[in-house]
Amino acid sequence: MIDIHAHIIPDVDDGAESMEDSIAMLRKSAASGVNTIVATPHLLPGSYMVSVDGCDEILLKLRNLAAELNIPIEILSGRECYLTPEIFEFEKDLHKLTINNAGKYILVELPFHDTPDYVYQLIFDFQMKGITPIIAHPERYHDVIYDPNFVRTFIEKDCLIQVNIGSVLGKYGSEVKKTSYVLLENRMAHIVASDMHTSHSTPLGSGVDAVSEIVGEEESRNLLYRRSKALIEGRVLAIPEPLDYRPKRNFWNLWGLLGE
Ligand SMILES: [Fe+2]
Repeated sequence: MIDIHAHIIPDVDDGAESMEDSIAMLRKSAASGVNTIVATPHLLPGSYMVSVDGCDEILLKLRNLAAELNIPIEILSGRECYLTPEIFEFEKDLHKLTINNAGKYILVELPFHDTPDYVYQLIFDFQMKGITPIIAHPERYHDVIYDPNFVRTFIEKDCLIQVNIGSVLGKYGSEVKKTSYVLLENRMAHIVASDMHTSHSTPLGSGVDAVSEIVGEEESRNLLYRRSKALIEGRVLAIPEPLDYRPKRNFWNLWGLLGE
């Protein structure tokens, strides 16, 4: 399996706090069946701002230590960029923020409580530079929990959608779990990743059975391996058309709608 979202670089964001912590996370991932992991420290101007070169330096040390300890996992570079207009000022060379430095895909995070209009302009700006945004864990965003079809706004703008394995397993509560199921069942999710922050986080491999049960074995391979492989190689992805999801309304939902 390939995990494209993990906070395994120590002491640069709210993820791993030490090298020991990072090594414990790598061991846990490898034991769950992950053979490649993309280190995606937060980039949030004003809060998490360690430079690309600073992160790369620590990544190299971590890579060497993991090899010395014979942990069978390849560590690649990436970043989770909070979508704010300052992002382009902070890092002029956006190529360096992309997954595996391939210059094609970038993991982006949106505000959790609402979706400001500038988000769409930033998505467009990335695409004008030939970089496709991957929206991290939309099942955790209020607008998507309220209406999962909101994700289609991003799919129609040629973004990719990444769901967290912890969401599928209910680690963020029942609403987020339900939303992650809706996205997976209706082909509105393209990649599943871990978003590990500590050695207690759920590694990607823990959710293989759950994902297979929702989408079947063939699509679970796409979600956990094939599409992520294309991303790290900078290849173009063929993504499925989303299904037409209509929320089931029970009597009380209907009553609420009539009362609006
Ligand atoms: Fe993350």
